[in-house]
Amino acid sequence: MTTATTKDTKDVSKDSKIPAEQRPELVVTASNKPVDRAQADCAWVALFSTAAGVELTMPARVVDKVSGGAIAKLLKAGDFDGKLGSCFLVRDLNGIPSSRILLVGCGPKESFNEKAYAEAVRSATRAMVPLKGVKRVSSFLTELTVGDRPGDWRLQAHVLACREVLYRFDRFKTRKDSKEPKSEDTKAAAKAAKPARPEAPSLSAVEVLLPGDMRPTDAPRIISEAQAVANGIELSKDLGNLPPNICTPSYLATTAKGLARQFRVKVEVLDKPAMEKLGMNALLAVAQGSSQAPQFIVIHHNGGTAKDAPVVLVGKGITFDTGGISLKPPGDMDEMKYDMSGASTVMGVMRAVAEMGLKRNVIGVIPTCENMPSGNATRPGDIVQTMSGQTVEILNTDAEGRLILCDALSYVEKNLKPEAVIDIATLTGACVVALGHVNTGLFTEDDGLAQALVQAGRDGLDPVWRLPLEEEYQEQLKSPFADMANVGGRAAGSVTAACFLWRFAKAYKWAHLDIAGTAWKSGAQKGATGRPVGLLMAYLRAERDNG
Ligand code: BES
Ligand code: MN
Ligand code: ZN
Repeated sequence: MTTATTKDTKDVSKDSKIPAEQRPELVVTASNKPVDRAQADCAWVALFSTAAGVELTMPARVVDKVSGGAIAKLLKAGDFDGKLGSCFLVRDLNGIPSSRILLVGCGPKESFNEKAYAEAVRSATRAMVPLKGVKRVSSFLTELTVGDRPGDWRLQAHVLACREVLYRFDRFKTRKDSKEPKSEDTKAAAKAAKPARPEAPSLSAVEVLLPGDMRPTDAPRIISEAQAVANGIELSKDLGNLPPNICTPSYLATTAKGLARQFRVKVEVLDKPAMEKLGMNALLAVAQGSSQAPQFIVIHHNGGTAKDAPVVLVGKGITFDTGGISLKPPGDMDEMKYDMSGASTVMGVMRAVAEMGLKRNVIGVIPTCENMPSGNATRPGDIVQTMSGQTVEILNTDAEGRLILCDALSYVEKNLKPEAVIDIATLTGACVVALGHVNTGLFTEDDGLAQALVQAGRDGLDPVWRLPLEEEYQEQLKSPFADMANVGGRAAGSVTAACFLWRFAKAYKWAHLDIAGTAWKSGAQKGATGRPVGLLMAYLRAERDNG
């Protein structure tokens, strides 16, 4: 592999003053100890809100009883209403070995479901973040009834919700402490002017109540699988959040090679000459405006038997999308560093399947480059011949995702014998208009695969919504000069983008996920979400679809 060289960007990660993410491990264990025996810095017990007031769950009742009615007293005083997302901290209760009890509001019992369960765990975790004295908590939330979800689901969802709240990405904030400076200390005062890097939460261990339907000996495996998924989600978030001067195509290639060193996966990286040889001219057309060399990354996890056909995941890896000559407007253009979220999803899933040793063959494919304007950049009107042989008239250089993905889909057809192929891409702004930030857009001709992915979305609390994929829309991609244009006009922009990819995915069972609305958040909560790693992990771990 050749590594890209750049004169115009500085990799600040090479600056020794920028530390890597300080992310202490969260140790999770399961135990049978009741709340009047568990000894932690804080014990979490659930309460529901009802029309009449507040309903105590079993552990809350135990706390109330041994403490001589302490809970009933504060409820009577109106201190806590049990609303979902609200918590109330009580200290030093008689007969309770833990120094604190956190009352966790779960809302009305009738509407308590999977989402509410995850929210209750998240709000309890959030309540621990400012408490410097809380290192170990003991959670009784796993005893809640969540529809008909079994204990192992509740245990996993609990781990994931805690890890989600504890995630931090502040390695680029140089001021580490948030202590008040003394006024005469001018150095400290100057430092204080800089935004503080928030102190890391002290919480480092969670002991959860073993769900009643689980054997104690099964808990460690369920927990470590959940930790593997959380590690995959965090890798995906980190890659998304990294600035585009660091997270370049070659950085992604290096990250993949790091996975091969840490786990039992095999990684191949094709450089530009190799891509030229294969005829990946659509991908190369997108890359040609950038001084960053494109990379084509293939990650193999061989967890199944040699004769099992692999599931192949293809992730769009545009490490920065300026739009190219069809330049984007400047507002929020920084968010186009997230245009590699399909790639980061694939990287996160490959990490998770490798770490948990999933008994299935999974291959991750990542075409990656930058989309930049320059004297070498592709012009609107250029025609390229894709690896499949089909020609494309590039009318808009900002519709670049489909150009790198089409060659990746042809590579999969030529080199891998897939059972199913799923591509993941921040492909269209139109998908954000259609579905907002709640559902990922799902396109597939295969009803069985669609059903499996919709169900996985529910299981993994990472939902998808199916949108149409129909021949009638292909009309919009007609070109007077080439086999097709790369854009299909304003109408149904996400559908025509999916239809473009469909022309390259005829040889196998295929689905396309448009994650433009779900891969990151804007505004105050700005950052990568790690979606849809959870969805794909739920899909890969479920029974095989029979569609
Ligand atoms: N990466 C963008 C899609 C995007 C836009 C994702 C906004 C998230 C937020 C993609 O490469 C793109 O620019 N698509 C164009 C397609 C158009 C030119 C047909 C778009 O959506 O405007
Ligand atoms: Mn674009
Ligand atoms: Zn893009």
